[in-house]
Amino acid sequence: MSKRIIVTGGAGYIGSHVSVDLLRDGAALLIIDDLSNAHEEAINRIRELAPGEVSFLKSDLADPADRQAVIDAVAAFRPDGAVHLAGLKAVGESTAEPARYYRVNIGATLTLIDALEAADARTLVFSSSATVYGDANPNPVTEDSATAPANPYGRTKFFIEEILKDLARSDTSKWRIANLRYFNPVGAHPSGRIGEDPNGTPNNLFPFIAQVAVGRREKLGVFGDDYPTRDGTGVRDYIHVCDLARGHAAALSHLADVPAPHIVDVNLGTGRGYSVLEAVAAFKRASNRDIPYEIMPRRDGDIAEIYADPKRARDLLGWRAEKTLEDMCADHWRWQSANPNGYED
Ligand code: UFG
Repeated sequence: MSKRIIVTGGAGYIGSHVSVDLLRDGAALLIIDDLSNAHEEAINRIRELAPGEVSFLKSDLADPADRQAVIDAVAAFRPDGAVHLAGLKAVGESTAEPARYYRVNIGATLTLIDALEAADARTLVFSSSATVYGDANPNPVTEDSATAPANPYGRTKFFIEEILKDLARSDTSKWRIANLRYFNPVGAHPSGRIGEDPNGTPNNLFPFIAQVAVGRREKLGVFGDDYPTRDGTGVRDYIHVCDLARGHAAALSHLADVPAPHIVDVNLGTGRGYSVLEAVAAFKRASNRDIPYEIMPRRDGDIAEIYADPKRARDLLGWRAEKTLEDMCADHWRWQSANPNGYED
């Protein structure tokens, strides 16, 4: 059955992969993105990778000046539902500018909710994060593990989940919602045409390693080697962005099958953790480049180890991650080496 889906943040790293995946599934898309941390070229490449109907609206969902245009465009598109990825996502910046993070991430979500209500399309897949979990949970973390996000960015994700739960609980609610809690998305589309293109100095491990491998940066700083992990460096559940993207289509299918109201939290991870040094070694093998690194002090707010229990995604969505760390590194490297300066080339 072909669907009409709004993808907010669809020009971004995860959004572009979600868009290609949904198009290949036969969906028609309206991508809404303000291009504040994305490039219009990504839209061209989505069209190149997957045939189908893609409309693009350059709008800031959080800007009151754009609100009516968004509501009108959503209504005119006649969507069946939405995948909501638009938002600010830099942890450090969120600590420096918390009010902006709350205004943008929560404001954008509220406008989208109003637009979907007006269009009578109450199906929503929300891009949440494993950052909603606290640091005291035993691994692997399940969806019922304790929540205690450690920074304003993480709290915007947590509060949005709570807002969506209130929507689902409201009288006569017709909402069907999935909060997808992403672990650490890495890699790129195997074509090398779309991938992560961070502004400025990358905060996250894989884009930093990739820029070292391609010669844009001299060396990686490894944030701490005295954690209680197998080699002392931080352990995370890295997940290939194409596996992650497939999880959205699986979530939409699940929502189409359940009676409203319905809301569910679902981890999207592999269930397996790798250390920083294991990731560096794997990237080195995949790229055949040297990755010089230096051990630095721990980064504020980092935890030693977190990886998912992916059982609910398997049972409920029939989804599981299939790609290996080698695939993630090979695909990340193909993208980085073919586009050393991202979409600016
Ligand atoms: N790391 C380094 N050097 C770097 C960057 C990262 O050693 O230059 C280490 C970190 O200390 C951590 C691991 O690599 O052990 C992964 O770090 P990332 O920044 O790639 O990922 P995080 O797990 O910190 O970030 C994830 C998501 C964010 C989310 C955050 C919450 O990517 O969106 O969890 O803490 F906000």
